[in-house]
Amino acid sequence: MMTVLPKAQKNETTDRASTTQNTEVSVFDWVDSRHQFLVDTYDRLMIEPNRKHISRCLYLADQIQKACNDHSVGILAALQLNRHPKHRYIKELLAGVLCELIGREVGMSSSSRLLLICASLTQDVAMLDLQESTLDRQSSPLTDGQRRQIQKHPSAGRKIIEQAGVKDALWLDAVEQHHERLNGSGYPNRLKQEEISSGAKILACADSYAAMVRPRGDRGVKIPKVAIKEVYLMRGDALDTEVVRVLINILGIHPPGTWVKLANGEQGVVREPGEDRPFPRVAALLDCDGNTLLGSQIRDTAIKDCAVLDMIDTPFVFNLAAVLNKLWPKIPAS
Ligand SMILES: [Fe+2]
Repeated sequence: MMTVLPKAQKNETTDRASTTQNTEVSVFDWVDSRHQFLVDTYDRLMIEPNRKHISRCLYLADQIQKACNDHSVGILAALQLNRHPKHRYIKELLAGVLCELIGREVGMSSSSRLLLICASLTQDVAMLDLQESTLDRQSSPLTDGQRRQIQKHPSAGRKIIEQAGVKDALWLDAVEQHHERLNGSGYPNRLKQEEISSGAKILACADSYAAMVRPRGDRGVKIPKVAIKEVYLMRGDALDTEVVRVLINILGIHPPGTWVKLANGEQGVVREPGEDRPFPRVAALLDCDGNTLLGSQIRDTAIKDCAVLDMIDTPFVFNLAAVLNKLWPKIPAS
């Protein structure tokens, strides 16, 4: 049975995500406001799950789906570049965007993709308290109690969203199975192969990548090159081979928003994949001495002098926001 988006739900949301209609914002501001909307939703969900919270998830998923129509490259870049220490749930947004893009490529219907984005937004709803109070700050290994809570969060998460009124099997199964692995090594039920729903296979792949490129207290952040390689090595054994192929095709070798070093010594950010996908367009932002360039210089990395030498960690540089804001087209606020 389909979970229905109530007509009145837009009126009940008075936050930034719903009050900036008919205006355009940078992709960074768009991500910030969606993140705040998600945080507010989680805060309410943790008090008492009900249909209003599920409506908010559907509303946010709808916004993500619409934004991906024309702005997926800019959104992926803004999510990749986000290093704000208080933005804890960028992973859920990034996985949701990737679910939408993978779902399109594999022929899922729009309504099914919407539910899959919702599953991404609610996948870890049963461990929000643990995540907020501990995991984001803890550098020591997990305790046995924390491991137990993590092991059961997929099935506990399903119960929470069922209690809130979700009836869609696609959404519920994806949440419950997003840590299952093809070879039976996953949790909570050690499902294998076709026992795992197709939605869960997509979410597992999107979430694996998103988790690797986002920092968490007990594990470091990986640059996209390393994360893509790790996801690739999981294909067949743990993750669905076709889904991994589609994900890597979407991200390319150099995902949007990745910092790279060029052959001429400059450093910059991948603005978009090139027409020949191994050769992205890069906005050079720092010269070979690390000094900020005036404005951004777009480099064609198919040219030998501007070839990408390597991906690098996001450097800590002041005053780049104004330049970055101009790299991707503005996006409707809602
Ligand atoms: Fe999870």
